[in-house]
Amino acid sequence: MSRKLIVGGNWKCNGTQDDVKRIVEFLNKAEVPCTNHIEVVIAPPAPFLPILRSTLRSDFNLAAQNCWTGKGGAFTGEISAEMLMNLNVPWVILGHSERRTLLGESDEMVAEKVAYALSQGMKVILCCGETLEQREKNETTMVVARQIKAVADKIQSWNNVVIAYEPIWAIGTGKVATPQQAQEVHANIRAWLSQNVGEAVAQAVRIQYGGSVTAANCKEIGSQPDVDGFLVGGASLKPEFADILNARI
Ligand code: G3P
Repeated sequence: MSRKLIVGGNWKCNGTQDDVKRIVEFLNKAEVPCTNHIEVVIAPPAPFLPILRSTLRSDFNLAAQNCWTGKGGAFTGEISAEMLMNLNVPWVILGHSERRTLLGESDEMVAEKVAYALSQGMKVILCCGETLEQREKNETTMVVARQIKAVADKIQSWNNVVIAYEPIWAIGTGKVATPQQAQEVHANIRAWLSQNVGEAVAQAVRIQYGGSVTAANCKEIGSQPDVDGFLVGGASLKPEFADILNARI
């Protein structure tokens, strides 16, 4: 089954108003394959969502980097799915390892967030991935399955879910997973979906790789059969992001 390539740019907690202007300028100039074949999702810090909404090219999508577990209200500091939809920001990254480790977001909390965001019509990039210690103990498959199962237990449809496999030991380290490592975990995720959700979902769900993706390493990783795109951090703030968008050319 051919799945539409999807490349996300996760700016994390980075950028100034001048950076936004600089990055939007190179994004708007980027020559990408026809957007019938690639979906681009840009995830700036929340304060910059409105300015990107009004200045970013219309064929690129916008995402938030997080949202609350439910309807808005007395939840100081949180951002609700309704607010994002009201801002015409239809995507949200959830379960990023930095939120799971630094902010203690549990599998259950992430699953609640995914279920609520989907209920409000949002599209979700669901992050999963193991620590170096877990990989060295051969626990990768178990960890990723546990993280995905928590979501599978709470949602009815995977139509608006993209999975991002981001080995924690590759995030921000320059130690990118080998194409074989990425393919192995992506295939295991697809096998888990096939056994626990259904073959049609397993074949349809797109799985991005994230973790030190650059213009230099994206082609080989992107050529793997179960890699359907990338979730890019540091390199998404640089003009080389346009090269990553053309990785499959
Ligand atoms: O969400 C993407 C991010 O975790 C990857 O970061 O800087 O290793 O590309 P980076």
